[in-house]
Amino acid sequence: MGKQSNETQSPVSNPTKFSILNLIDLSNPNINQSVHLLKQACLDSGFFYVINHGITEEFMDEVFAQSKRFFSLPLNEKMKILRNEKHRGYTPVLDETLDPEHQIHVGDYKEGFYIGVEVDEDDPESSKPFYGTNKWPAPDVLPGWRETMEKFHREALEVGKAVGKIIALALDLDVDFFEKPEMLGEPIATLRLLHYGGQISDPSEGLFGAGAHTDFGLITLLATDDIAGLQICKDRDAKPQKWEDVSPLKGAFVVNLGDMLERWSNGVFKSTLHRVLGNGQERYSIAYFLEPSHDCLVECLPTCKSETNPPKFPPILCRDYLSQRYNDTHADLSIYKKQQS
Ligand code: OGA
Ligand code: NI
Repeated sequence: MGKQSNETQSPVSNPTKFSILNLIDLSNPNINQSVHLLKQACLDSGFFYVINHGITEEFMDEVFAQSKRFFSLPLNEKMKILRNEKHRGYTPVLDETLDPEHQIHVGDYKEGFYIGVEVDEDDPESSKPFYGTNKWPAPDVLPGWRETMEKFHREALEVGKAVGKIIALALDLDVDFFEKPEMLGEPIATLRLLHYGGQISDPSEGLFGAGAHTDFGLITLLATDDIAGLQICKDRDAKPQKWEDVSPLKGAFVVNLGDMLERWSNGVFKSTLHRVLGNGQERYSIAYFLEPSHDCLVECLPTCKSETNPPKFPPILCRDYLSQRYNDTHADLSIYKKQQS
């Protein structure tokens, strides 16, 4: 898939416009209306807002406050819980390079923290690549931090499942299609706190908060503070690419479709290219990446293929696809061992 940006203009000389995104209200009793709005969004931009999702604004504020507390710790404190091979823990600035073709010299100007599904070391399931124990800041350093994040992880999963039901209906599937054990019954679900440090991005120099990319899984729920920075490109093959700003919306999740949904839906629902440009202000966001179980075979859905429209992508196991995408975008952990020795 073409994931790369071919745009060279700086945002100053090439002002972008704000994208108008559909609003999906999870409290709307008229499910057909939600299905219609979601389908329209998925066919257009692959991005939409989700409101009335059940997570209170007070709790979201607490999650952001805790996230800020973590990133404000001294670097040596954060490096004590550096990301491991299970993708848990702290990712320093430049750890990730989402658009290697255009980020020639450096990676993303963001730091992050990954929290996954907690599986004990003595549980045989923990041998699976994205299962294991999480890393946590010491409770005396950040009291209540783990509890806040665990609660958010649980609540965001419920929001993701509710959106999954509407997606299933939009694809003419059974409403519970994504609820099956191999789907979201035993999901890989990763919460990622993000902090953009206030650098100014310059696309012509390959400098980005987050380089242009598509997300990997089913959907991503994104909560942001009120600083703009997220941009989407509806047509990744256009030259030059056109980028639209996505406005932050207090209390809403910005939801976007990932590559696995593009594969399931045979390209009907596209995973949209997006990136983050820094404008000199610090910015915090919280992403929740929702993927099916490790063993799920991601293959063209029965409702998305026909004799004249055969599957465009070969079936692939979720764990293989995800491992490949993580390896392609993250630094090799051995560089940190070298730095520390
Ligand atoms: C991501 C992402 C956007 C943001 O983490 O995949 O696109 O606003 N984040 O931080
Ligand atoms: Ni993304």
